[in-house]
Amino acid sequence: MLNWEETPTTPPTNNAIATPGTTEAPSTNASTRVRASDKRIINGQTDVNQLVPFKYKWAWEKYLATCANHWMPQEINMSRDIALWKNPNGLTDDERRIVIRNLGFFTTADSLAANNIVLGTYRHITAPECRQFLLRQAFEEAIHTHAYQYIVESLDLDEGEIFNAYNEVPSIRAKDEFLIPFINAIAEPTFKTGTPEADQTLLKSLIVFACLMEGLFFYVGFTQILALGRQNKMTGAAEQYMYILRDESMHCNFGIDLINTIKLENPHLWTASFREELRDLFRQAVDLEYAYAEDTMPRGVLGLNASMFKAYLRFIANRRCQQIGLEALFAQEENPFPWMAEMIDLKKERNFFETRVIEYQTGGALSWE
Ligand SMILES: [Fe+2]
Ligand SMILES: [Fe+2]
Repeated sequence: MLNWEETPTTPPTNNAIATPGTTEAPSTNASTRVRASDKRIINGQTDVNQLVPFKYKWAWEKYLATCANHWMPQEINMSRDIALWKNPNGLTDDERRIVIRNLGFFTTADSLAANNIVLGTYRHITAPECRQFLLRQAFEEAIHTHAYQYIVESLDLDEGEIFNAYNEVPSIRAKDEFLIPFINAIAEPTFKTGTPEADQTLLKSLIVFACLMEGLFFYVGFTQILALGRQNKMTGAAEQYMYILRDESMHCNFGIDLINTIKLENPHLWTASFREELRDLFRQAVDLEYAYAEDTMPRGVLGLNASMFKAYLRFIANRRCQQIGLEALFAQEENPFPWMAEMIDLKKERNFFETRVIEYQTGGALSWE
């Protein structure tokens, strides 16, 4: 056991936390001090253990903003939801289907998102201020899984049914089958960046997660539960979703800043064939999310129907394309849910390349208006 008097006989090694690109522990030589100008988002050679000097201030600012938004699921009172759910006349069968399908997708989706960060993305990102955001983001994904679990527990739902939906419900399974290869590709222990092909693999995975998972696959579900909340139903669950949506909106924007900065630093990756491959993935994601919308809403419910989501998904997909510099996929689409734009797009869905995010505040000030 160490005590304060003891002098270690061997110097500590920190190979496990050494700078990517090297296997050496950082030396004490002043010439190895980090210069901001040497930092890179991927394939950097600077010491990842030194947060400062900052180069990517947008990442640090987003980290601070996410911390300012901290919330916990159990702070939200679920008693009205419980009473409504237990009342046989409280909700229609279609409304109940929406809640069950939503939880079926999201309970495991946020675990996938967390695993993607921890086991995949994190080790390939060599800018410590971006890693700092990813650490916070991983915790937020844990909070989201906690929130969905808290709703399942509060409503006394069948856990087996909900947590297995991603294996058993085809429209949910299809979305996850689309995503999982992009996690596996970068989580594979032998995968490393440093070649154009490998760097494109990482960049593609980042784009799939930020733009298609957090930026598109979440939106049918968010809209549905928030539509319930706007009708004064399941208001506790809807409030949780509001907080989650706010977090996800930030994750998506951080991801887009990360992607755009990697593009700036590595313009050779952004080839015409790569862009076409990405646009094809966007098209597939829109189809998958639309199939999910149809499955969750076989009939019109809450003033929503599946075909409204066709327009909405095209609108969002175009926006995501534009945010990372891809050509829009669809003809100009109107947003059929302007109230969703009020909640996310206008105030919070801005990234560094458009304008700084400054309007985030601590929780508590959410409103349905
Ligand atoms: Fe999440
Ligand atoms: Fe997220």
